[in-house]
Amino acid sequence: MLRTAITGASGFAGQETLDRVLGHPGLELVSVGSDSLAGQPAGALDPRLERNGHGSLPAFVTNEEALAAGAELVFFCAESDLEAPEGTVVVDLSSSHRFADDWCYALPELRPPTGRLIANPGCYATAALLALAPIAEVVDPGSVVVDGKSGISGAGRALKERSHAAAVLENVTPYAVGNHRHAPEIERLLGFPVCFVPHVVPLRRGLVCTCYVSASEDPRPLFEAAYTGSHVVDVIDSVPDLARLQGTDAAEVAAFQDGSTGRWIVICALDNLGKGAAGQAVQNANLALGLEETAGLRLSGVLV
Ligand SMILES: NC(=O)c1ccc[n+]([C@@H]2O[C@H](COP(=O)([O-])OP(=O)(O)OC[C@H]3O[C@@H](n4cnc5c(N)ncnc54)[C@H](OP(=O)(O)O)[C@@H]3O)[C@@H](O)[C@H]2O)c1
Repeated sequence: MLRTAITGASGFAGQETLDRVLGHPGLELVSVGSDSLAGQPAGALDPRLERNGHGSLPAFVTNEEALAAGAELVFFCAESDLEAPEGTVVVDLSSSHRFADDWCYALPELRPPTGRLIANPGCYATAALLALAPIAEVVDPGSVVVDGKSGISGAGRALKERSHAAAVLENVTPYAVGNHRHAPEIERLLGFPVCFVPHVVPLRRGLVCTCYVSASEDPRPLFEAAYTGSHVVDVIDSVPDLARLQGTDAAEVAAFQDGSTGRWIVICALDNLGKGAAGQAVQNANLALGLEETAGLRLSGVLV
């Protein structure tokens, strides 16, 4: 069992990562860091953590204390300037190291992790890249438009005016129009910029990217080639469905040709906290540590 610690455990990404670590057959949770919950028992985050099945979980400590616990694997689950402990495999779910030269930006199906410092992609970037990277060579770069829609958990647990129920319910809100922070992530791995507009939709979790592209050939065989053998990304010939994916670490990709214009419409759906965050972080950790790629992941959901 690999000794594992989490920092920033009280945020949405942190609590999802905690959930995956507790269900992982090869990881042993040795320390749970949270500056806001330090000194409190595990049940302060979720009373189920003190019920049967979880044994006695460690109480929360500060993030610095969690790093000093001697773990072999650490998940960084919040933006921070924490130092990665020497010799430890670190997967950072935040954007803190996605552009750092000494960290590996890793998306398992497209760019598996190398080394011990791994920057997990953003949730929108994951969906857009799963939809576009396999077909980048056959698309006209100037034609690409990415329309993103995410549930409100993408904005994190802390209260913000735009995440109040009154702002979100019965509403669809475009935001960061023209300058979303995930656009450079998408551009770097694709090799060209894309026009990307995200929207908040009144869901708790789940994310869909609908991508419009002109392509020089039918791109569908390229998806089959890229994701054959993947237990996480499914290429389907019907419309991706968030209901199947909410609460899971899987993703669905499908491509359709527009009957009027001949353009291609590629859709990727996933859970922003699953494949878009904690699930992908655990997948990256598994690959980095030579464990089974899908160990600890949730790969099946429920329809209603
Ligand atoms: N949400 C997503 O869908 C998603 C997807 C991919 C990547 N990410 C990235 O993951 C990182 C964490 O995102 P998140 O959604 O988990 O953020 P979050 O819920 O806002 O939590 C971030 C951190 O803030 C602290 N915190 C918790 N509750 C708080 C509260 N009520 N008020 C103030 N601070 C509080 C926690 O640190 P302590 O536990 O140390 O107190 C927590 O780790 C971000 O960099 C984000 O970009 C998020």
